[in-house]
Amino acid sequence: MRPDLSVNIAGIRLKNPVLAASGTFGYGTEYADLVDINRLGGLVTKAITLEPREGSPPPRTVETAAGMLNAIGLANVGVDAFIKEKMPLLHKFNTAVIVNVAGSTIAEYVEVVRRLDGCQGIDGLEINISCPNVKQGGFLFGSDPQTAAKVIGETRKVTSLPLIAKLTPNVTDIVSIARATEEAGADAISLINTLLGMTINVETKRPKLANVTGGLSGPAIKPVALVMVWKVAGAVKVPVVGIGGILSGKDALEFLLTGASVVQVGTGNFVDPQCMMKIIHGLEQYCQEKGIAKISEIVGTLEVEK
Ligand SMILES: Cc1cc2nc3c(=O)[nH]c(=O)nc-3n(C[C@H](O)[C@H](O)[C@H](O)COP(=O)(O)O)c2cc1C
Repeated sequence: MRPDLSVNIAGIRLKNPVLAASGTFGYGTEYADLVDINRLGGLVTKAITLEPREGSPPPRTVETAAGMLNAIGLANVGVDAFIKEKMPLLHKFNTAVIVNVAGSTIAEYVEVVRRLDGCQGIDGLEINISCPNVKQGGFLFGSDPQTAAKVIGETRKVTSLPLIAKLTPNVTDIVSIARATEEAGADAISLINTLLGMTINVETKRPKLANVTGGLSGPAIKPVALVMVWKVAGAVKVPVVGIGGILSGKDALEFLLTGASVVQVGTGNFVDPQCMMKIIHGLEQYCQEKGIAKISEIVGTLEVEK
């Protein structure tokens, strides 16, 4: 018997718990020739801001040991062009579409969400209060419980779409921030965004990224992501979305066991465009081998000696 991989998160029904992470899958269409997008649980778009943004100057990405650093700086077409040009194409896919929202001020977040609210085909919004690569806003919004709650509370007022708060790991106490966003009305919590980092060219004595600092992602950050998912899943009632260094079915299973209801794959898509297909297959195989009828049964079943 085929296991049931479908999950329901924040009122969004997904055919399986594997989504493409924001910023690593463009607006979806860029991958359409490489990946059967209809097989994905869902995809999260690039961060969308009120006005179009060119982002940071190049070089904007660099490979590191077991990962990569990026400083894209929220390059995107802006919310109006997104609604007009990108959403009609995305809507054609038979997969959940979650739009990642960013802003330099709380008013900007609110306005972007207000415009997206009436747009057909959007299943949910991921509020990015965690970008490390912008001068204003970004992870500053996600580093303090009151400010994080304010962004979620204000955006909550202008939409009935499911709201997912995407948190930064660049904080001392992730649980207090997660709880604050839950209380402010978040329907789910995504973690983690990238860890702040830098890397140097010793010949030129200059940073390798033009932006000097960037966000670290990939396998290097998986243990950090897992501990944050574990702590937050044990402290909030809303579902948790696990992100960070997932490249295989086993990686995804680690997150599900630790308490994530679904996972997102970012850097893995750059390593192997078929990565998410292999992860979905790996989850199915695991359920079959272990006699698990429904994937959601394993969420949070990690055994830890007390
Ligand atoms: C090139 C690149 C661009 C990204 N852009 C965004 C973004 O626009 N919004 C966002 O919330 N996260 C963004 N992220 C973070 C990813 O969605 C994800 O949280 C992070 O990379 C960790 O997952 P991974 O290790 O699977 O890549 C970006 C990551 C990368 C590598």
